[in-house]
Amino acid sequence: MAHVTFRQVFRRTDDHTPGTPKVKLVREDLPLPLHPTAVLIKVHAVSLNYRDANIANGGNPWPVIPHGVPGNDAAGEIIAVGERVSLVSIGDRVAPITDTEFVSARSTGRSWLAANEDGTLATHLVFDEKLVTKIPTHLDWVQASIIPCAGTTAWSALKGVSIGQTVLIQGTGGVATFALKLARASGLKIFLTSSSDEKLNKIKDQFGKPEIQTINYRTQPDWHKEVLRLTNGIGVDLVVENGGSSSLVQSMLCTRRGGTVSQVGYLGGPKPEQLKEFVSTVIDRRVNIRGINGGSKHDQDDLMAAISATEMTFEDIIDSVWPFEKSEEAIEFVWQGKQIGKVILNFGQ
Ligand SMILES: NC(=O)c1ccc[n+]([C@@H]2O[C@H](COP(=O)([O-])OP(=O)(O)OC[C@H]3O[C@@H](n4cnc5c(N)ncnc54)[C@H](OP(=O)(O)O)[C@@H]3O)[C@@H](O)[C@H]2O)c1
Repeated sequence: MAHVTFRQVFRRTDDHTPGTPKVKLVREDLPLPLHPTAVLIKVHAVSLNYRDANIANGGNPWPVIPHGVPGNDAAGEIIAVGERVSLVSIGDRVAPITDTEFVSARSTGRSWLAANEDGTLATHLVFDEKLVTKIPTHLDWVQASIIPCAGTTAWSALKGVSIGQTVLIQGTGGVATFALKLARASGLKIFLTSSSDEKLNKIKDQFGKPEIQTINYRTQPDWHKEVLRLTNGIGVDLVVENGGSSSLVQSMLCTRRGGTVSQVGYLGGPKPEQLKEFVSTVIDRRVNIRGINGGSKHDQDDLMAAISATEMTFEDIIDSVWPFEKSEEAIEFVWQGKQIGKVILNFGQ
């Protein structure tokens, strides 16, 4: 049994006034002795997501517990186990799942880390053994930490497409760049939108051939017409939709008949007035709208297997790595949307 009895953890201040601290570092006792099926994880890296910044600034569309712990991604090492743990062992490298009630497609509950319960921005975590997945052995802690949320979401969003098909990915954030990696590994033709030519050119250079088709959604507000032009009027097979109500109808308009829009994000904020043509468009385009909410434990296991099989690495979609102590600054950086890809907190041991 490890001798650690307390943890350092960042809790939200829930002060949403611009310019005030959004998180505070506190020391807390660990829940010891461990429940018989629980594992104690020493955290090595936590990756941030848009929702961490959004929740810290009071913007989450779903309820959150007061003064909760941010973070729904972590990679760490098991340092102690309850007496009946059988699925994992001390020394295993693991990542918890993001929604602890979403184990399989038949699960009925919902409990997202960092919202319905405390998240991962802490030196140590305790989870039931059934809620952690082993991480690929070829990845370091920083790269492994991006898999549960951005990775499993991108994996769920791309399900069903096959080699040679076309995909439109929106933005250059965490989910988008992870989707880019999976789409490239799956042999898909990729269309990518961003508000920034600089970001688009950087990604285009990085990913090389076959060339990613890029569109600036800020300078080309009718970007869906450009997608249609580039696909000979057909539209793409699948859209990874990150904008939400502000862009959904446009996304449907450039999806091929019978294609899929995977609704992942809500970055454009609530814009119900832009959904007026939803029904006529969904009928006209015969489009399938698929809601994505992370993925199940089984999905996360499948993704880990795919990453191991392909020996995929993620250094090219990591924007920056910050020390754990700089969590406040890193959350603000994500809130400002300055990153390309993932922002990670490294615990330095
Ligand atoms: N449903 C789920 O399971 C799930 C899971 C994870 C995340 N999400 C949601 O998915 C979205 C992306 O999350 P993330 O963590 O990847 O965010 P992120 O890393 O913060 O990336 C956000 C990026 O998206 C682009 N963007 C901003 N506003 C946009 C808009 N109106 N339309 C299209 N693109 C826009 C920007 O890229 P450019 O600067 O290149 O324009 C921005 O940098 C968020 O809404 C998040 O809450 C949902």
